[in-house]
Amino acid sequence: MSAAEIGVIGLGTMGAMLALNIADNGFAVAVHNRTTARIPEFMDKAGDLAPRISPHDTLEDFVAGLARPRNIILMVPAGEAVDAQIAQLRPLLDTDDMIIDAGNANFHDTQRRAAEADAAGVPYLGIGVSGGAEGARFGPSIMGGGTQEAWDRVGHILSAIAATHEDQPCATFMGTGGAGHFVKTVHNGIEYADMQLIAEAYGVMRDGLGKQAAECGAVFDDWNTGPLQSYLIEISGKVAAATDPVTGNPMLDMILDRAGQKGTGRWTVIESQMLGTAVPVIEAAVVARNLSAARDLRLAGVEAFGTSDRTIAAEALSLDDLEQALIAGKVLCYAQGFELLAKASADYGWDLPMAEIAEVWRAGCIIRSAMLNDMASALSDAPERNLALAPFFQQILKDNMSGLRKVTTVAMGAGQPVPALAGALSYFDTLTSARTTANMLQAQRDYFGAHSFERVDQPGAHHGPWLNQHL
Ligand code: 6PG
Repeated sequence: MSAAEIGVIGLGTMGAMLALNIADNGFAVAVHNRTTARIPEFMDKAGDLAPRISPHDTLEDFVAGLARPRNIILMVPAGEAVDAQIAQLRPLLDTDDMIIDAGNANFHDTQRRAAEADAAGVPYLGIGVSGGAEGARFGPSIMGGGTQEAWDRVGHILSAIAATHEDQPCATFMGTGGAGHFVKTVHNGIEYADMQLIAEAYGVMRDGLGKQAAECGAVFDDWNTGPLQSYLIEISGKVAAATDPVTGNPMLDMILDRAGQKGTGRWTVIESQMLGTAVPVIEAAVVARNLSAARDLRLAGVEAFGTSDRTIAAEALSLDDLEQALIAGKVLCYAQGFELLAKASADYGWDLPMAEIAEVWRAGCIIRSAMLNDMASALSDAPERNLALAPFFQQILKDNMSGLRKVTTVAMGAGQPVPALAGALSYFDTLTSARTTANMLQAQRDYFGAHSFERVDQPGAHHGPWLNQHL
């Protein structure tokens, strides 16, 4: 076999699927895994693609099996494993050989690794890859960060393995350093929020309207033919319809309500706070996962206070209201995510291609949806404008806000937690407030700390009549 055009280190689910995808697209690929027992297992699964894959038990053989300049994708767990792998690999490489981290890295790590690579004069790419195992195998969405030159070197391979939307590959260079991993992080934050919004709609149907899982599934299937059409709504319909092979009960009813998280949603919230932007729907989604995990606390709460009767009369809330609430919640959640991207772009000097971000999310990734097409159009008209203010989405919000308000207030009145829907509603209500209550905060700050405030009628910094009175 001739030297491989690209290599993949790490044959966990994502790495294995990515390597098969690369081979499937006609490229010769070298593979290596630290635990070598996994390599023959992987080669067995490769089937017809095996002739295009060269397996190597040692890093040295792996490196020797690659065409120069070498391009090496790392698909190892994010964090220290990436640094350890780079430290092992770099001494074996030439200065024009490139390492590509395709894991869910924290973008700060990617910024650091890119700077270190830059200082050493070696190329480095950090790429966000979305789409789960199926996406990795048959076409993920790819968000690249590093240098344009480094991206151009492997762009043809990444575009070939990526998903396509109307023949356009969902693989885009986002900007320098950690830009690609930042965009992937925000993708995941939005993913958390979109999932939570759907879960809240399910909760209203289950606990409020008394629907069985399969009935909820049918509602999701129906919504998937309208403006909410998306991968997440589609799979929600499928999981709600599934039967537990062990008990014969609806599968959803047998799953413990304790959600895990690897951290990318939390990172989105942390970065939004550091950048001073508001992503309340994403925040609510992360908090909901944290609280779901605190099951003992919740059970103690039930013991102490009981649970309210969450029944909602059918005439108080319709499925159309619920669909409207999800549509409006989704628009507001994405508006927040894109606002965060725009702020990060300015602060980190990335010049993120806002419309292309929406485009690259239209296929392959977990948050792919029909609405992203309209978001891409709105962002290409005005990349900096909050999506909620784009004429198309203004109209969507005008048409659907009443549903969001009704669902949120009715659900909250019945004691049903809907934190993400409520976060969206409060965001909208704040967005449409010419006068918030921050004048009170400013007065308090001035009172206790002489922080000063601006006046509505004069320029400059001012103090209230209370100053010094209490000293
Ligand atoms: C994707 C997914 C993927 C993964 C995340 C989320 O875009 O393909 O986001 O990256 O599912 O790690 O996982 P958690 O829910 O465990 O944080």
